[in-house]
Amino acid sequence: MNERATLKAAENGHLMIGGCDATELARQFGTPLYVFDEAYIRSMMRTYKNTIDNFYGGNGKVLYASKAFSCEAVYRIAQQEKIGCDAVSGGELYTALKAGFNPENIYVHGNNKLFCELEEAVEADVGGIVLDSISEAQALDGICRDRKKVQNVLIRINPGIEAHTHAFVQTARTDSKFGFSISDGSALEIIKGVLALKNISLKGFHCHIGSQIFEKQSFVLAAEKMMNFIKHVKDETGFVADTLNMGGGFGIYYTDDDPKLREEDYAAYLMALIGSIKSKSEELNLPEPYLLIEPGRSIVGESGITLYTVGTIKDIPGIKKYVAVDGGMFEAPRYALYQSKYCAARADDVNAPCTQIVSIAGKCCESGDLVAADVKLPEVRKGDILAVFSTGAYHYSMASNYNRNFVPAAVLVSDGKADIIVKRQNYEDIVRNDVIPERLK
Ligand code: LLP
Repeated sequence: MNERATLKAAENGHLMIGGCDATELARQFGTPLYVFDEAYIRSMMRTYKNTIDNFYGGNGKVLYASKAFSCEAVYRIAQQEKIGCDAVSGGELYTALKAGFNPENIYVHGNNKLFCELEEAVEADVGGIVLDSISEAQALDGICRDRKKVQNVLIRINPGIEAHTHAFVQTARTDSKFGFSISDGSALEIIKGVLALKNISLKGFHCHIGSQIFEKQSFVLAAEKMMNFIKHVKDETGFVADTLNMGGGFGIYYTDDDPKLREEDYAAYLMALIGSIKSKSEELNLPEPYLLIEPGRSIVGESGITLYTVGTIKDIPGIKKYVAVDGGMFEAPRYALYQSKYCAARADDVNAPCTQIVSIAGKCCESGDLVAADVKLPEVRKGDILAVFSTGAYHYSMASNYNRNFVPAAVLVSDGKADIIVKRQNYEDIVRNDVIPERLK
């Protein structure tokens, strides 16, 4: 087994997570099952918060990027850890508010927010809205005017950094659908437009260069570019940004292709970013901006595993071996989308030597429906419980009902206790919104 912060092998070889035996969790809650280690989530939230407190005088806030994993319990944890969150849809905002999240600590994102989502955000009194177009700024201004409110906003800027990650998760390339490009002058134009609006108050800028990034230099470079940009805007318009949101993007360990980072390594990423903001502030004679960061994957990704029951095993001699499980792309879509890599183990014997390389196949009617390809495993038999690691981010949150499969349950484990935080769907849930028109009856 790969040695991981959140996982341990019990004396009998069983996989332990958060003090719970994974085979027991599978038996108790059924499979597929998302399992989240609460201590891991809290420790990552604290790592980022403490770094801002200790190395930036508390002049900033961590916003958990809820798109990585959104449900009421995770917002509760974030609030208890005294961090904020972002929300990229009415649904995420609704969930956070329903969980009792302080709206002041919520920032709303989206490249095409719906009018009703803007209204909901204003009515909830969220801390900030990150603007992505001038038409959105105008719509928001009207919404605020009607309600006699002034909404704090940031503008999403595209610094044009090409971070080394999968093309679909790069967000700050010049051809991105997100943000206003520094290089073509469109950013300056929207800033002037926004400054002219009376019912929204521009606080600063936001950028996010991509996800699953390990190069410190990418974050440092983005921070430098944003600080230069703040200076440029000051010179051109007189507006001095007092908030800088640097987005998320810190990478996590999936397989041995990725570095294994510890809390102190993540702190070092953030310290490098802070260092670059500080030195740029001094060099350009700018006030140090209030810093926001939006880590998602690195907070929940490695906290999570998915448990499966092995079903059919198909060996195509000399070609390939499929180990099919009771999940698939409906609950683990990242292989189908990005050919993402994962490690797995047998939950009843994590130390069993790996003797084969298999593809873990899903149960959907689609050839590309793999949970993971080329995974090293020991011998497995029908009925064994498999654990796939690092599934805490962008699994549950990207799940669907493809083939009318159920979105699995999620449990939160802590000190040997396991609690359901998302219930497994059932057949009733699957047909809940179906309607048979009169003429088909
Ligand atoms: N802030 C903004 C504006 C973002 O767009 C994202 C991620 C984040 C923060 C959080 O980034 P993180 O710390 O999680 O890297 N579905 C893809 C990832 C998409 C990320 C989208 N934006 C995947 O499964 O890899």
